[in-house]
Order: sequence, then structure tokens, then C-alpha cells
Amino acid sequence: MHVAIIMDGNGRWATQRGLPRTAGHRAGAQAVDRTVEAAARQGVDVLTLYAFSQANWQRPRGEVRALFGLFRRYLKEQTSRCLEQSIRLNIIGRRDRLDPRLISLIEAAEQATAHCTRMILRIAIDYSAQWSLMQVCRSFGLLVSTDHERFARQLAVVDNSLPVSQVDLLIRTGGEQRMSDFLLWECAYAELHFVSRAWPDFGEEDFQSALAEFSRRDRRYGRIEPTEPVRAQHA
Ligand code: IPE
Ligand code: IPE
Ligand code: MG
Repeated sequence: MHVAIIMDGNGRWATQRGLPRTAGHRAGAQAVDRTVEAAARQGVDVLTLYAFSQANWQRPRGEVRALFGLFRRYLKEQTSRCLEQSIRLNIIGRRDRLDPRLISLIEAAEQATAHCTRMILRIAIDYSAQWSLMQVCRSFGLLVSTDHERFARQLAVVDNSLPVSQVDLLIRTGGEQRMSDFLLWECAYAELHFVSRAWPDFGEEDFQSALAEFSRRDRRYGRIEPTEPVRAQHA
């Protein structure tokens, strides 16, 4: 079971309370702790959290700095907790634009938890699904430029057997119903679950009800159950 979460609504949560947006991000960090614990308890195998998108670089410098301060603090404080709970940490996204000190913390956290097997916690920082897909294509020699239009034309010929774990359930808090350039490939058959509650108010009960709703969904994968599927080549 792979659950991905677009943790949205921190800024509005704070603004509604007359607080600076950064207070919303701090409260959001606590919601991360709660959710990681809940996911591990519920037996989730992979949890991917969207913490900072490529587009988020366009925010005011003070807010970006506050967010990266929280990432640093999170890695420093939570690595030992992850070890205790056997949670393997993995940061996805671009690394070439991150502060070298943050990269060192990331590498240390990944190495320290590399043997952990209970759950994989992936945190997306400076992440863009479109950029990731282009990287894959470039590594296959299918693309030599970063031209979006060219990529869109070439995507049609990409092999679809990449060893990427597909997302089963995508949750987005904060009321918006969009992907915001998150895991576009991996969410090809994800169940989508939108929550109007802002991320800082998201708790274990919300996570459990998302899982409960997921378990009630009928995932047909294009088939009409319970009829025996027709083999594509004989259709
Ligand atoms: C999500 O909350 C956190 C990040 C994107 C880093 P927002 O900061 O987007 O909060 P809203 O959507 O403005 O309320
Ligand atoms: C998506 O939230 C990115 C993260 C949660 C890290 P945004 O608030 O940045 O997305 P948009 O602007 O509403 O699409
Ligand atoms: Mg937002």
C-alpha cells in the first residue's frame, strides 16, 4: 500500500487565525509527525509526502527560508525516531539546488535508516513530476533538451515498465482538487481523496477514514469483475 499526500492549506490555516503563514508550516510539521505514526500503525508500506514543489521557489524568500529551516529541523530531530520505529527515510526531488548542509543531513538520514523495513517515508523536496519524467527520458537517451513540448510528444513512446512503485491512494488536504505536478506517473491508477480540512488540522482519524474509504472503492483496472478478463491479444 503506497499512500501519497499533498499537504496543503498551511498558509490559509494560519491566516484565518491571524498568524503569519510560517506558523501554519510549523503546525503542519506536527501534522506530519502524527500522520507518519498513523501510517506506520496502519501498516502502510510507502508514504510519500509533498513538502516543497519546484513551483514553491516562487514564494517570498522569508517563507522559503522558514520552510527549509523546518526541513533541517525535521531531519535532525526525526531521524532517531524513524530508527526507533524502523522507518526508512528517502528524500525525492532535485538535490542540485539544495544547500549542501541540507544535503549532508539528507544523506546521513538516508544512510542511518537504510536498513529499516517497517515503512518507507519519502519526502518530496524541490519536486516536479514533469521534471522527474524528463530526467528519466534523458537517462534513456530519449530526450536531449528540457523542452516541454518536445517531451510531451516523446512521452508516448516511453517504456511503462519502470520500477516505480505506483501510488494506491492520493490524499490532498486544503480543499483544492489538483495534482500540482506531484507524482503524475506514479498516480496513473491512484484513488483520489480530497479533504477540505487544512493540513495542520489533519489527524489520525482523517487518515483512517481515508483508508476506510479507499478499502470500499472498487478498483477494476479496466476490467468488468467478476467476468473472466479477455486477453488483449485475443480481443
Ligand atoms: C502547503 O501549504 C505547504 C507548502 C506548499 C509548502 P500552503 O503553504 O500551500 O498553504 P495554502 O495553500 O497557501 O493555504
Ligand atoms: C502543492 O501545494 C505543493 C505542496 C503541498 C508542497 P501548493 O499550495 O504549492 O499548490 P498550488 O499552488 O495550490 O497548486
Ligand atoms: Mg497551497
